[in-house]
Amino acid sequence: MVDRLEDATVGEIVAADSRAAGVFDRFGIDFCCGGRRSLTDACRSAAADPSAVVNALGTLPPRAQGHTDVGDWRLDRIIDHIIATHHSYVRSVIPTISCHLATLRDVHGARHPELACIATVFDELGADLEQHLAKEEHVIFPYIRDLAEHAERGFGVFLSPFGTVETPLAMLEREHREAADEMRVIRELTDGYAVPADGCATYAACMSELEEFEHDLHQHVHLENNVLFPKAVALEHAPRLPNGR
Ligand SMILES: [Fe+2]
Ligand SMILES: [Fe+2]
Repeated sequence: MVDRLEDATVGEIVAADSRAAGVFDRFGIDFCCGGRRSLTDACRSAAADPSAVVNALGTLPPRAQGHTDVGDWRLDRIIDHIIATHHSYVRSVIPTISCHLATLRDVHGARHPELACIATVFDELGADLEQHLAKEEHVIFPYIRDLAEHAERGFGVFLSPFGTVETPLAMLEREHREAADEMRVIRELTDGYAVPADGCATYAACMSELEEFEHDLHQHVHLENNVLFPKAVALEHAPRLPNGR
């Protein structure tokens, strides 16, 4: 955990100890796209009592000796983890959720007209995310791996085809905000993924799939915005850091 919680950003706090994500979720604090805000500012936005949040963080038991969090990992391990965990999850569930939403729209759309809008927003989000993941896997992540390898071997300044890696990272962060905004719209339209009294088993399954999808998106965006991207920027500014960290 970081030294003075009030001075740290919420992204830094979760990067230092991933269990803080559960505490922030409980208080409605956005730590992914809003990860660069101080704990004080983030609490203000979420109407949460900062001392209650600090107390909750303080009750997390100490880590076992030798435990490493994802923020301590090498860059290539973080990238492998993001692809294996989050990218593969997104690709596997988008067709299922999309199909369930189409069924709900057709079966329940007359009594729940918001389902048509939810299905449209989710389909747009799915298409946007497919492009986003491809950009990361084929362009940005290979570049970050090269940057880390270059620094680890102690080579000189690494010439970026982008001018600076911060330019494509800013574009990816903007796309993260857009995806999070689309999921926020879906959460509001579903009244927090609530199942109506006349909802069937598919309705219930689809609401829990959407809730899980949003939760995974927050974890995924956090790992990129608050852990991977700052490490890549630091490497570009200090290309001789050892061990690719
Ligand atoms: Fe990603
Ligand atoms: Fe991303």
